[in-house]
Amino acid sequence: MKEVVIDEYMDCICDLVSEEVLWSMSDLPQHADVSCLNHCFNVSFVSYLICKRLGFDYRSAARGGLLHDFFLYNWHETGIKNIHAVKHPRIALNNAKKYFILNKKEEAIIKKHMWPITIFPSLHKEVYVIMLVDKGCALMEVFRFGKRKITDKFS
Ligand SMILES: [Fe+2]
Ligand SMILES: [Fe+2]
Repeated sequence: MKEVVIDEYMDCICDLVSEEVLWSMSDLPQHADVSCLNHCFNVSFVSYLICKRLGFDYRSAARGGLLHDFFLYNWHETGIKNIHAVKHPRIALNNAKKYFILNKKEEAIIKKHMWPITIFPSLHKEVYVIMLVDKGCALMEVFRFGKRKITDKFS
């Protein structure tokens, strides 16, 4: 059963993980010692599970979650940390559209995952799942809750 879930999840993101540029996020730190890539896998996989359970669009959740922080720079070195929070969803979306074919819901997930910072809300319920899971994963990563089982599956 576990393998079936992982297989189905991987099927949702197979075109994304086949691009080398996605893996370049493994060189970028996100929270504490967790890379941007592992953070995105955490958010993507947990959002996929929750959306699947709730009958939402789990495929878009998995894909949007994996690309939600695809901004491709080390935000700890930018010197503009406070505006990184505002700007990175748009940068991540532009990068994602450059490399991948996305549907409108996946675009909304990336663009609005920092709502309410991004001001305009979304009509897609999956956006709010990713938004909440992102916050939860960030807390887990910073404060080192749990055993990071999710990240271990993919790294
Ligand atoms: Fe983000
Ligand atoms: Fe994030």
